[in-house]
Amino acid sequence: MTFAAGIIGIGCYLPEKKLTNQDLEKMVDTSDAWITERTGIKTRHIAAPDQATSDLAYEAAVRALADADTKPEELDLIIVATESPDYKYPSTACLLQARLGAKNAAAFDLSAGCSGFVYGLGIASQSIVSGLYKKILLVGAETLSRITDWTDRNTCVLFGDGAGAAVLGRVEEGYGVLSLDLGADGSGGSHLIQPAGGSRKPTTHETVDAHEHLIHMDGQDVFKFAARRMPYACRKVLQKAGMTIDDVALLVPHQANLRIIDNAIDRLKIDRDRVWINIDKHGNMSAACVPVCLTEAQEAGRLKKGDKVIMVAFGAGLTWVGALVKWAK
Ligand code: UT7
Repeated sequence: MTFAAGIIGIGCYLPEKKLTNQDLEKMVDTSDAWITERTGIKTRHIAAPDQATSDLAYEAAVRALADADTKPEELDLIIVATESPDYKYPSTACLLQARLGAKNAAAFDLSAGCSGFVYGLGIASQSIVSGLYKKILLVGAETLSRITDWTDRNTCVLFGDGAGAAVLGRVEEGYGVLSLDLGADGSGGSHLIQPAGGSRKPTTHETVDAHEHLIHMDGQDVFKFAARRMPYACRKVLQKAGMTIDDVALLVPHQANLRIIDNAIDRLKIDRDRVWINIDKHGNMSAACVPVCLTEAQEAGRLKKGDKVIMVAFGAGLTWVGALVKWAK
């Protein structure tokens, strides 16, 4: 017997402090005009010094659990998608499990870059469809400010901190996750990388002096990858479900660059008012982007039961992912 699986609750958390383009003008050789024109970003949130990724994840998780009317003890599994965990180990998911008191849940972190939350949606939904689990907490949470090179204008203007969470459970037949497309091209791994701090290049004074423990990115290579893969993943999930873009009530894309989103809008021929865009307010929060968008869309009354929603993302790996969901709440 199989079950339909879908999102039954969502929530997000954004740290209080905001960093504006004007603030960045005082830190590196950049301008509000360049950042706005080349990326669409105006401000981003920055975690307080005493906040780590699990703290952001916790706030988002509490809100998602309340939205789903679910108690932590009911959870069978917690997945945290992140590239900025509190520690290499234990996993941020285990820290979150303890803090929530989710004593019946298994827990692990998922590393798929900015695709992490939607990758997790794929894994979590199939764990429910198979009957293995009934309720799963899926979180995308990042404190990218901790691994950003604040002297590198090519990258430091892009990223922000935040967290979004979803509770997945069994839903009515025909609702929930309808189709998925998960992909990777590991040959592009070096285009977006934190070079030091792992077994290939353990942290040393030299790696720290060279800023190799921080994010390094070949922006244009990632841009080209994204420009191809975002529309590709959307078409794939539509094709698998036998639908067209006209069936979609809302497209929720990863928020890395407004020009990448605009490119997808043009290629897919979808009206702009059916695309959720918040990059101006939050910047690129990696795995947190999609669930924060979903929460904002729900709060704005833009997600109604039966709406077909596409979530699409790309990121470090390089990875890409699409999911077509029939909203079940
Ligand atoms: O979530 C997944 C991860 N990330 C992404 O998806 C990012 C994908 N890539 C991008 O969004 C874009 O490639 C960037 C926003 C990173 C860069 O935009 P671009 O249009 O590709 O700029 P560029 O790298 O070709 O640089 C153009 C110029 C260069 O100057 P010169 O060599 O032409 O004199 C850069 O040095 O812009 C300069 N530049 C800046 N100028 C002012 C780069 N960063 C800045 C800056 N302020 N912050």
